[in-house]
Amino acid sequence: MTILGIETSCDETGAAIIKGTTKDKPVTLVSNTLATSLSLHAKTGGIIPEEAAREQLKVILPVIEETLKDIKKNDIDAIAVTHGPGLIGSLLVGIETAKTLSYLWDKPLIPVNHLFGHIYANFISDQDNLSTLPRFPSLALVVSGGHTDLVLLKENTDVLVIGSTRDDAAGEAFDKIGRLLGLSYPAGAKISEKAKYGNAANFPLPRPMKHSGDFDFSFSGLKTAVFNKVQTITNLTEEISNDVCASVEQAVVDVLVYKTLQAAQTYSVSSVLLGGGVSANTMLKTTLREELKKNYNLNLFVPKPKLCTDNAAMIAAAGFYRQQVVPINEITVDPDLYYTV
Ligand code: KG4
Ligand code: ZN
Repeated sequence: MTILGIETSCDETGAAIIKGTTKDKPVTLVSNTLATSLSLHAKTGGIIPEEAAREQLKVILPVIEETLKDIKKNDIDAIAVTHGPGLIGSLLVGIETAKTLSYLWDKPLIPVNHLFGHIYANFISDQDNLSTLPRFPSLALVVSGGHTDLVLLKENTDVLVIGSTRDDAAGEAFDKIGRLLGLSYPAGAKISEKAKYGNAANFPLPRPMKHSGDFDFSFSGLKTAVFNKVQTITNLTEEISNDVCASVEQAVVDVLVYKTLQAAQTYSVSSVLLGGGVSANTMLKTTLREELKKNYNLNLFVPKPKLCTDNAAMIAAAGFYRQQVVPINEITVDPDLYYTV
């Protein structure tokens, strides 16, 4: 089965082709095209939704054409498109384009939840050594700019959210703290880079909700703690700023790893998966992988960096494994969509 995926939930515009055989095997990545309006948003310190959607309108057709350049339309079996969560204008660009193509080409349309997309990025075989799929029950840690969730997958369509952030997402905390330090949006990767040259011990920070006894997270207190401490510093040198970055990264990773391990043990899972932009973070990947192996002999699945952040290949993959075709007149965008569909 060949699926065209389309992703426009935030500032990226993506189209990709994946091929799948059976649901017990990874899907293969055939093409993956992405256009981003990030440089535009770096100037404003965040995404202006109206501008993001306008840019997406300009590039969506060229992006789809590029991804289809070596594919015959007749070979496409279905189209998968993100219908939420995300920015309403951006989602509409993708949904309306996908509906039009579905109608013109007479192909079934699969609406895909972006959050499941991040999880199913782990089911794409364009990864080192991925010859097998994660095994159920799986535990997924979805860490993006908008979400920090621990999700238990008993089957492809039997899913339970066991923990979530009560306020800011991990990526959002990185971005907001980055702004405080004068780093451009999105700041996660920049904080991680600066952290290499810093010393966390010079700037101690709390571990919010680490011992709350549940699987929820909270990162807004971390941002406030950084803000309050930075306020007292008269000369924020590069050296101190690097120390702040090292400490922020360590605090976030510490809480994420601790709770993921607790959840893996509580639910006796067979695999653990990372998904979302923050899973590109090397310290998170390495620490979580080592701790899971050492404590529970569990393997960690992590998408390749280009499949961690928003892309259309993950949407096509989620479409393949979940395959819920919906008539085009019943598909709407849902900016607040959670893990229900
Ligand atoms: O999944 P994503 O591309 O978009 C959303 O669905 O939100 O995630 C973007 C988030 C941003 O907050 C960005 O700062 C963060 O992922 N991010 C990182 C890294 N790369 C991206 N955070 C920490 N370390 C990184 N290397
Ligand atoms: Zn995302």
